[in-house]
Amino acid sequence: MLDPYKIRKDFPMYQNHIKMQGKDLVFLDNASTTFKPYSVLKAIEDYYSFYTSNHHRGDYDLCYNVDVKIKETRQLVAKFINADVNECVFTTGTTQSINIITYGYALKNLSKDDEILISIEEHASNSLPWFEVAKTIGCKIKYIELNKEGRITPENVKKAISKRTKIVAIAQVSNVLGYLVDIKEIARIAHENGAILACDGAQSVPHRKTDVKDLDVDFLSFSAHKMCGPTGVGVLYIRKELFNKVSPVFVGGGNNVTFKPEHDVTYYSTPAKLEAGTLNIEGIIGFKSALEYLMKIGMENIEQYEQNLRKYAINRIKEVKDLIIYNEAAEEGIITLNMKGIFAQDLGTYLNSKGIAVRTGQHCAKMLPLFLNTPATVRVSLYFYNTKEDIDIFIENLKNGGNFLDAYFA
Ligand code: ALA
Repeated sequence: MLDPYKIRKDFPMYQNHIKMQGKDLVFLDNASTTFKPYSVLKAIEDYYSFYTSNHHRGDYDLCYNVDVKIKETRQLVAKFINADVNECVFTTGTTQSINIITYGYALKNLSKDDEILISIEEHASNSLPWFEVAKTIGCKIKYIELNKEGRITPENVKKAISKRTKIVAIAQVSNVLGYLVDIKEIARIAHENGAILACDGAQSVPHRKTDVKDLDVDFLSFSAHKMCGPTGVGVLYIRKELFNKVSPVFVGGGNNVTFKPEHDVTYYSTPAKLEAGTLNIEGIIGFKSALEYLMKIGMENIEQYEQNLRKYAINRIKEVKDLIIYNEAAEEGIITLNMKGIFAQDLGTYLNSKGIAVRTGQHCAKMLPLFLNTPATVRVSLYFYNTKEDIDIFIENLKNGGNFLDAYFA
């Protein structure tokens, strides 16, 4: 059984007893970013202290050490999501990964009569790149209708898909509603209709076991910083059958075999083809440690722990009167709520005054308010180092808020 108090010993943000507004920090904004264990910091420090050098750029030992680390990280990423090693491309994060799908794949392979299916609950990073594709080539974006609860269901995908659909692009877990989408079934429906499935895994990969072969996705994007790794590193998984259909979006050092004055260029194959320029070496090295850390705890244990904590939180939240919960039955540790008559940002500001960090607003999913019928919400998002005590502090402060603005200025 996962013990969060033991886990906290691994995290400087807990061991340094960080305070906010003079109160012990209660961090409930993990869908935004996560804390990093000492092992990740140490790996980064070691790189700068003992073997600073570039990758693939020198025939000396230091460089070789970096190449080995990058290779080992890629192997670990592949193991983590059950992909082949070359199917894992390093990017700067989910946003860049999705932009590579849109600019490197969609722009080259779609035409004006084609359709792309997304939903109104997608994050800006899984909406705007598709808007740009539609604007550039004149193809159409269609929206999968959400069910009453706000879920994307295979039935509604079936209703929206047509022979013109070339790409279904959805998140496995919404960053606002936390519902787990049946990606495997939706991939099957997409393939049956001649479309591919591009999955945004930013909010799912950090919290549960991921198997791209089982899910049968064509692309999967995720970020290291949401899973105890450094910022500025992400992954784009590309099914190997698509390698030749994805063109490099960024070109330059490291992604070409040769080029001539006549503009004759030979690119490497994936992943190097899509990794022009110096990679975020410290980030990749730190990411390796983060993956090792998560794998040691076990993704099934993390998922189980978070689900239990979520249940506890939901039960306690119900004690607070005048709360609206938007996603009571969600599978992921995300709880989105509002307090009747209190603007979300005011509630967030009040919670800050009590040392509690939550996210408020639209959470980058700016079409979702059309469904939620509210301009803004408060989002609590959990990770495996959160405790029941965190939830208790959150609840007690919600209960004792009274007039929130008075409490804030008191
Ligand atoms: N995508 C991050 C979030 O949902 C930033 O908060």
